[in-house]
Amino acid sequence: MAIEQTLSIIKPDGVAQGLIGEVIHRFEKNGLKIRALKMIQLTKTQAQAFYAVHREKGFYDSLTDFMSSGPVVVLLLEGESAIEKNRELMGATDYRKAEPGTIRADFASSIEQNIVHGSDAPPTAQTEIAFFFNHLEKF
Ligand code: CDP
Ligand code: MG
Repeated sequence: MAIEQTLSIIKPDGVAQGLIGEVIHRFEKNGLKIRALKMIQLTKTQAQAFYAVHREKGFYDSLTDFMSSGPVVVLLLEGESAIEKNRELMGATDYRKAEPGTIRADFASSIEQNIVHGSDAPPTAQTEIAFFFNHLEKF
């Protein structure tokens, strides 16, 4: 057990559905503190760079179109086991397999449009935080 930081993104579908407050409430009431936050719209090129690990996958082009289709809210979360805690609150990638009461089970509309992103491990969390936030934007 340790205090960790992780990156969350409320994806364009979550913002469009008016779920910013709902998602942030779930983070805060489950002990994840917000250390940085902003709303931005990614370009296609930026979305491709963020998801470069998936560039060989069949869903990469559609995913990066979707992620650049509207504004997103990007958050730096901190707390005890924050990476795993955030993944628990999100639920499985495929919302049909997500635990009841998770963000994806409650709100996702497809495997692609699944409301939230969350870092999957400490090294990726550090890379993803640095992708979006500089030292002046973090608290
Ligand atoms: O987001 P997560 O880490 O749970 O899943 P991922 O395997 O890292 O995939 C990244 C994102 O690609 C997912 O959140 C989905 O939006 C999308 N995806 C998809 O469109 N089709 C798939 N078969 C798998 C993932
Ligand atoms: Mg992932």
